[in-house]
Amino acid sequence: MTPPETPVSERPASETPAFDTTPLDLDGLESELLHAIDTASDLDKIEEVRVGAFGRKGRIPALMQEVGALPPDARKSFGQAVNRLKDRVGEALEAKQQALAGAALAEKLAQERADVTLPVRLGPLAEGRIHPVSQVTDEITEIFADMGFAIAEGPDIETDFNNFTALNIPPEHPARQDHDTFYFPEGADGARPVLRTHTSPVQIRTMLARKPPLRIIAPGRVYRSDSDQTHTPMFHQVEGLVIDEETHLGHLKWVLEEFLKAFFGVERVKMRYRASHFPFTEPSMEVDIGYAKVGDEIRIGEGDRWLEILGCGMVHPNVLKNVGLDPERYQGFAFGLGIDRIAMLKYGMPDLRAFFSADLRWLKHYGFAPLAVPTLAGGLSS
Ligand code: DAH
Repeated sequence: MTPPETPVSERPASETPAFDTTPLDLDGLESELLHAIDTASDLDKIEEVRVGAFGRKGRIPALMQEVGALPPDARKSFGQAVNRLKDRVGEALEAKQQALAGAALAEKLAQERADVTLPVRLGPLAEGRIHPVSQVTDEITEIFADMGFAIAEGPDIETDFNNFTALNIPPEHPARQDHDTFYFPEGADGARPVLRTHTSPVQIRTMLARKPPLRIIAPGRVYRSDSDQTHTPMFHQVEGLVIDEETHLGHLKWVLEEFLKAFFGVERVKMRYRASHFPFTEPSMEVDIGYAKVGDEIRIGEGDRWLEILGCGMVHPNVLKNVGLDPERYQGFAFGLGIDRIAMLKYGMPDLRAFFSADLRWLKHYGFAPLAVPTLAGGLSS
């Protein structure tokens, strides 16, 4: 293809260079570029043309370099002529680019289809589930926080002292046998660390770290070497502790009753305190909650059946002495509750082992929506 040439004689006078530009042939270049622009059939091609014309090694920059080699009186008019060429080619290029981009978009739109009948893909907020143990822990925490309790924590691996001795369970005490303890090898001090068998050692940690008045709950994992339909080697408890100068059994009863009413969402709850024994409390009690079975449904708080749900009592004077508190001045109450157990009861989950089998179908069925955070104002288990 031979680019059309404008004869020199037909150019307007203003564009006529004042020197012989024939070897540089601006007109030839311009028509060549315009032709290339004109015939470029897609965005890639037009980009090629742009690079060939304006790119670092393109024709127009090459032309500009020639300016330096010209005699001084010719530079100005040649430079102006190149600039005009640049403008015209630039304009043509841009117009063509826009036209091609518009055509490409129109073609894409014509081809693409959105199938609005496809099902929506659920995101993590809709599909993810909070495990019932986490949910129930949050529910318990919310209720006690509302009564002014703080959350305390301790490690899963405990000292023998915190888990047993300080809680008035000295070495050789038969209660140690009841706990089916997982022991670690002896440390340098000759004592064996343990996987804590209950959350009660957090009482000790709290009393050693802070001065009364104390009002804490301590939820967490506990471990015992025990496994059947109702026992797993790891399970969850929440410990409660109140220490002050005038704390008595009436406070304990009120706190537990308020807790159970809020937790089970009932107006009234039947409770029974049975004398029991724990080394760290005196007196010690186990608390049963009344329920009725109507068909398959369990109704908490009414009826004449009893279910044991927690242990409690007044903190034993020896425990207070072990943490350096004067039992003549301070006293208080403590309680311990199995989280998994009351979760099963509240949400009708029959098998404890399913809690820890990581079965997604179970979690989908019994789990909670991630944003259903339990609050007393908004509902504990909405
Ligand atoms: N630590 C006891 C257990 O694991 C539960 C318990 C009973 C805790 C009575 C207490 C309490 O604080 O006062 O079986």
